[in-house]
This record gives sequence, C-alpha cells and structure tokens, in this order.
Amino acid sequence: MLTFLRQFFRDAKNTGSVLPSSTALARAMVHGIATGAPQRWLEVGPGTGPFTRALLAAKRPGDRLVIVELSPEFCTQLEVDVLTPWRKSCPEQAHEVVLINAPIEEVRLEPGFDHVICGLPFNNFPPELIERIMVQLRALIRPAGSLRYFAYIGARTLRDGHGALRGVPPLAEIEKRVLAGCSCSSDMVMANIPPAKATTVILPS
Ligand SMILES: C[S@@+](CC[C@H](N)C(=O)[O-])C[C@H]1O[C@@H](n2cnc3c(N)ncnc32)[C@H](O)[C@@H]1O
Repeated sequence: MLTFLRQFFRDAKNTGSVLPSSTALARAMVHGIATGAPQRWLEVGPGTGPFTRALLAAKRPGDRLVIVELSPEFCTQLEVDVLTPWRKSCPEQAHEVVLINAPIEEVRLEPGFDHVICGLPFNNFPPELIERIMVQLRALIRPAGSLRYFAYIGARTLRDGHGALRGVPPLAEIEKRVLAGCSCSSDMVMANIPPAKATTVILPS
C-alpha cells in the first residue's frame, strides 16, 4: 500500500492511482481464464500484484505467465512479496513465470498469447500512446483470445484530459477503431476505490 502511494507521488501519470486494485476487481479481470490446454498469459502493469496473485492462483502446471512492469520499485516489491513466495511453494513451475522491467511499448514478445491482462492507466495516457499499446497488445493475442483491461468509472469526465469534455472520450474512440470486429463485455466493479469498469474483449476466431 505504501509503495503504491510513494510511486504515485513519484510518477502519478504512469501509476494512475493511489491504491492497488481490490480483490473484487482482480477476480473480474481473471474470471474464467484457465480453461483447456496449457496457455500463455501476458500481464502488463502489475503494480504491487493484485492481478498477479489472482493469475498465480488460477495458474495450472504448464500455463505460462509473462509480466511486464515499467517501475523498478514495483518490480522489486512484486518479486519479494508475490513471486518469490509463489516460486518457493511451486518450485516445479518457477520457470513458467517471467518478470520483465520495461515499458510494454519497448518489449518484443512472441505473439500467440491466449489472454492479455492489462493494468495500465489508459485514461492518463495521450491518445497516441493508448492507440499504439492497444494495437501492440491486439497483435500479440491469438484468434479467439482475450484482452482484459479496466478504467475507473467517471475518470475521464472529472478532468479536461485530452479533450475528454469537448468530445468523444479518446479511449472509447480508440477502442472502436482498434478493436473493430471483436466482441466486448464489461463488468462494473463497485468494490474498488475508485469503482471501475473491467472490460473483456474477445478477438475474432
Ligand atoms: C493503475 S496501476 C495498476 C497496478 C495494478 N495492476 C493494480 O491494478 O493495482 C498501473 C501500473 O502500470 C504500470 N505502467 C504504466 N505504464 C507502463 C508501461 N508503459 N509499461 C508497463 N507498465 C506500465 C505502472 O507502473 C503501474 O504499476
């Protein structure tokens, strides 16, 4: 909790919140994720790891998880508090989880992920960066795979960010363009500070 607050004051734009997500939001983000054959998951922007914990709880032997986080402080905390204890309890699966400390837009990954769980604060980003990352993430997902992300309810309307109060919110506009042909569903998660909308996008088969 303190790491999160400290990181927010250090880099509010990329941290996007003063608190980590709740377990209710984490549940909504990873709902129904582990089915069928062993899978590859990508988590972007784990912070202190609420979604990572839910992913590791759902993970079966053979499922692989790549985690990409911008902040070295969050990487250290995630490693100490979440990944190391998990590796100790599941040593035979340790090599199946990898943490990369870098901005996602600079990481080259092999495509074909079954699910991408994105914790990025899209509403804080300029439209060009949102679009660039959404295009990148979509290209990394296999047909019929999913992209999951969240946004705080009302976040755009509270401030005049990137023209939000003057027209269509950039995130909605970019979603429409980049995710054309996909099916989208959303869950409103009120048990989070602030309340959030968790979106699941399924790519065409
Ligand atoms: C709103 S916080 C969410 C953290 C966590 N998923 C949660 O829900 O509590 C956003 C996270 O994305 C990370 N982040 C921001 N920009 C990033 C980028 N370009 N690449 C990777 N991670 C990034 C931040 O450092 C932070 O950990």
